[in-house]
Amino acid sequence: MDKSKIGRRFEGKVAIVTASTQGIGFSIAHRLGLEGASVVISSRRQKNVDDAVKKLKEEGIEVFGLVCHVSNAQQRKNLIDQTVQKYGKIDVVVSNAAANPSVETILQTKESALDKLWEINVKTSILLLQDASPHLAEGSSIVFISSISAFQPPAGLAMYGVTKTALLGLTKALANELAPRTRVNCVAPGFVPTHFASYITNNEAIRKSLEEKTPLKRLGTTEDMAAATAFLASDDASYITGETIVVAGGTPSRL
Ligand SMILES: NC(=O)c1ccc[n+]([C@@H]2O[C@H](COP(=O)([O-])OP(=O)(O)OC[C@H]3O[C@@H](n4cnc5c(N)ncnc54)[C@H](OP(=O)(O)O)[C@@H]3O)[C@@H](O)[C@H]2O)c1
Repeated sequence: MDKSKIGRRFEGKVAIVTASTQGIGFSIAHRLGLEGASVVISSRRQKNVDDAVKKLKEEGIEVFGLVCHVSNAQQRKNLIDQTVQKYGKIDVVVSNAAANPSVETILQTKESALDKLWEINVKTSILLLQDASPHLAEGSSIVFISSISAFQPPAGLAMYGVTKTALLGLTKALANELAPRTRVNCVAPGFVPTHFASYITNNEAIRKSLEEKTPLKRLGTTEDMAAATAFLASDDASYITGETIVVAGGTPSRL
């Protein structure tokens, strides 16, 4: 999108985006930063954090980066503590980290893979918010990144899809729990060519068939996901909570 057409809905706001040194998380941080937020980015590797911070700073974005593997309790606490120390509050949390360690059928998925899916895709989102909640400002907003596969978990992504279905429920439950101070919403992306999805989207035949099946005849972009996330996190969505926006080019999604 032409930068001159982007608003400044996050002036004076502080936004944490997890798993944000590349892909969808990076684009979300970029979008919130362009709109005036101070953004706190993180991922597992220091080098990725440093590179992403540099890119965002080059665009004049106020950014703070640190290492946070979402499974590491100390690093999660540090992410929240350092954000509050530096910026004094938290207005937006985008919970974006996910893993997909197995392409087995659900009944063949090893216990260790089931544990990892639950831990990274669902449990750590809850634990991070437990740390963040005392610092969430009045009018704050949380956005979970789910997936189109939450609605009809596809073969090869089935258990991953089920963990993403859990995020739809978590969105509803936390929206009630945190209202009226904090809104909680969710974005469910369709396929986006990133590192995470590369084993699908790098295959020319699969990619073409996905494009063909999508009413808008293309895959999603990380910017598409960032735009929807920014809307939900902003005051433009101030009467929306507990909802999931599917950003998947018209791919059928309802349960
Ligand atoms: N791409 C798609 O088609 C698609 C579709 C639907 C939903 N989604 C969802 O979108 C989200 C982002 O996916 P993506 O496609 O943007 O992935 P991506 O391009 O592969 O980026 C993943 C990012 O997460 C970081 N990361 C990975 N594991 C982490 C962990 N345990 N703790 C902290 N950071 C971690 C990575 O950096 P480090 O390596 O430095 O940790 C990187 O910055 C996920 O929730 C995914 O389920 C993606």
